[in-house]
Amino acid sequence: MTDLSLEQIWSAIPYPAFILDPEDRIEACNTESEIFSAASRRQITGRPLSRFIGAESPIIDALAQARQGIASVVLYGVEVGWSERPTQIFTVRASLVQESAGRVLLLLHPRGIADQMDRSLSNRSAARSVTGMAAMLAHEIKNPLAGISGAAQLLAMSIDDKDMELTDLIQQESERIASLVDRVEQFGELRPINRSDVNIHDVLDRAQRAAEAGFARHVRFRVQYDPSLPPTIGDADQLMQVFQNLLKNAAEAVPEVGGLITLRTGYHPGVQLSLPGGRTEKLPLVVSVIDNGRGVPENLIRDIFDPFVSSKANGSGLGLSLVSKVLTDHGGVVECESIPGRTEFRVRLPIRIGRKTPKETG
Ligand SMILES: Nc1ncnc2c1ncn2[C@@H]1O[C@H](COP(=O)(O)OP(=O)(O)O)[C@@H](O)[C@H]1O
Ligand SMILES: [Mg+2]
Repeated sequence: MTDLSLEQIWSAIPYPAFILDPEDRIEACNTESEIFSAASRRQITGRPLSRFIGAESPIIDALAQARQGIASVVLYGVEVGWSERPTQIFTVRASLVQESAGRVLLLLHPRGIADQMDRSLSNRSAARSVTGMAAMLAHEIKNPLAGISGAAQLLAMSIDDKDMELTDLIQQESERIASLVDRVEQFGELRPINRSDVNIHDVLDRAQRAAEAGFARHVRFRVQYDPSLPPTIGDADQLMQVFQNLLKNAAEAVPEVGGLITLRTGYHPGVQLSLPGGRTEKLPLVVSVIDNGRGVPENLIRDIFDPFVSSKANGSGLGLSLVSKVLTDHGGVVECESIPGRTEFRVRLPIRIGRKTPKETG
């Protein structure tokens, strides 16, 4: 470390970063923040941050919370407009710098997670319109399909063996369409959520057991649970579906030999979702499904939560869309980070309202 200057480290951070003094004045900033603010360091430092981003920005609150030193405070989907510049969406992280008299490090993360989050939130309406369309389409397809398959059966009775291959093909392919339609229909039929306290570890155990008995028979599981995790509130069956879908994708991505899925839970009190209208929602529960598979194809990463996006020959592309929809209904979010060899889907959920954890009251 000794041959590295602070300045070198500072300028290596590839997105805007600031140090705020105890009065929220900008004490230092990096090159990226000059680019973002279109101002020089001299013009920025020494001035209160609120002068540039507005006193009502949730970031100002986040700084105060970070000073209480609970943990770093993370805000998702925050719109930041610097002075008159057009707003951009950031993931904001504020952390108290230990033993530095109340200084806070503020990082504005523009891409990656922020993108994913944004998409996952906007998927809500995409999923809704698909829901309506799916129900209608499924209904319309099923009847003629039954007709086609029935006709092929009748035909099979009166033809020779060679042509039978063709009628078999008609029937097989009809079945494939029927099962796809079933899946689409299921997607449209999601019941309203049946809320109760949910122990997420129970849900994960069930999902894991089902996976191990079926599609994930070839995969090794590793479990890293935080035993002190408080319950979330939601629909256990729907959450089960979420983790099953994530496990299924993971199992389909890992190699035939040496496949590993890690299930991890944790409690991150500083994570909040910034909602339109300045409201925030705490999302302290984290469940990660991590696999050592080939990774999400790079050209798909931005779209995987959209319906009908799939890289698989027989994929419906509805798994992650459903995950996103259920989690949005639960007030949660899902993010994905993927490189070849390591793919992590991170689900963030609220805890039951009214429960004060020791960390929060302290
Ligand atoms: N764990 C994973 N590893 C690699 N790619 C994944 C993973 N999970 C999802 N994907 C990618 O996202 C796409 C969409 O997933 P999904 O919505 O479940 O649809 P489907 O599984 O039917 O293709 C997949 O086709 C795959 O390309
Ligand atoms: Mg899938």
